[in-house]
Amino acid sequence: MALLYKADPVRGQHWQALFAEHAPDIAWRAWPDIGNPEEVEYLAAWQAPDNVAQRLPNLKVLFALSAGVDQLDLDNLPPDLPVVRLLDPGITRGMCEYASWAVLSLHRDMLRYRQQQVARCWQAHLLQPAVNRRVGVMGLGTQAQQILATLAPLGFALSGWARSAHQLPGVDCYAGEQQLPAFLRQCDILLCVLPLTEQTVGILDRGLFAQLPRGAALINMGRGGHLVEEDLLEALGSGQLSGAVLDVLQEEPAAPDHPFWEHPQIVLTPHIAAMTQPESAFRVLLENIRRHQRGEKMVGEVDRLRGY
Ligand code: GLV
Repeated sequence: MALLYKADPVRGQHWQALFAEHAPDIAWRAWPDIGNPEEVEYLAAWQAPDNVAQRLPNLKVLFALSAGVDQLDLDNLPPDLPVVRLLDPGITRGMCEYASWAVLSLHRDMLRYRQQQVARCWQAHLLQPAVNRRVGVMGLGTQAQQILATLAPLGFALSGWARSAHQLPGVDCYAGEQQLPAFLRQCDILLCVLPLTEQTVGILDRGLFAQLPRGAALINMGRGGHLVEEDLLEALGSGQLSGAVLDVLQEEPAAPDHPFWEHPQIVLTPHIAAMTQPESAFRVLLENIRRHQRGEKMVGEVDRLRGY
């Protein structure tokens, strides 16, 4: 029985050492050296190979090495293959750090102060206390809940929106299409950590921006596919939005002539908000493999119809 790893080769060596130490019964294979394909029962991947069913005839579970699974092209996988997303506490910690930094940067006007610094301009602007700043999070899953809990002690007025109803202490929760306008009306800083699905693709568009208070700011830590990039440029140009922090793009890496690189109101980072941490992630993966071997339910199993 073997586990096939198909992701970053450098981090793969780290994973391999951890499995050798803690699960010597599981043979480790690193893509593209898959050995005897019939032995591969588990696949741990950022992106699945083509023709999974033909290539790996005895595959039992596909473990995504990420919190999001949209890049796996679920429709092209065998319909009864369980797909499990990675609920790595290391990913969640990264998301919380990035969200805190991005919210505080926008809240404390750091885009403007950075430009002022470059222009050697020493000028103070009025300081808004955090209690006056309304931060709304789109998506209320594992990542979002931890992000909200991390932001809470800073004093921001917190809200969240998701497809289904949630109740979280200290967070005004909105649900479904119907309550989206009421949610948006009160977001000074909107942070997206939604999963990318047919329902959420392009959700951050002109129509949505128009419902935010004038001068609101955007943080996208979900997927590039959530954002209609031209609509963001338009909203920044018109003053409807004042700034954006983006960790993800429609096409990554960004093309050299992408208009976001030099945009003064955009901070762009290369999909680094969170990275799977082998030390914590291997425990989660191994525990799921053990659960599967015992015939128990795994943690993070994706609802293939829902897409997350
Ligand atoms: C990274 O983007 C992830 O989904 O874990």
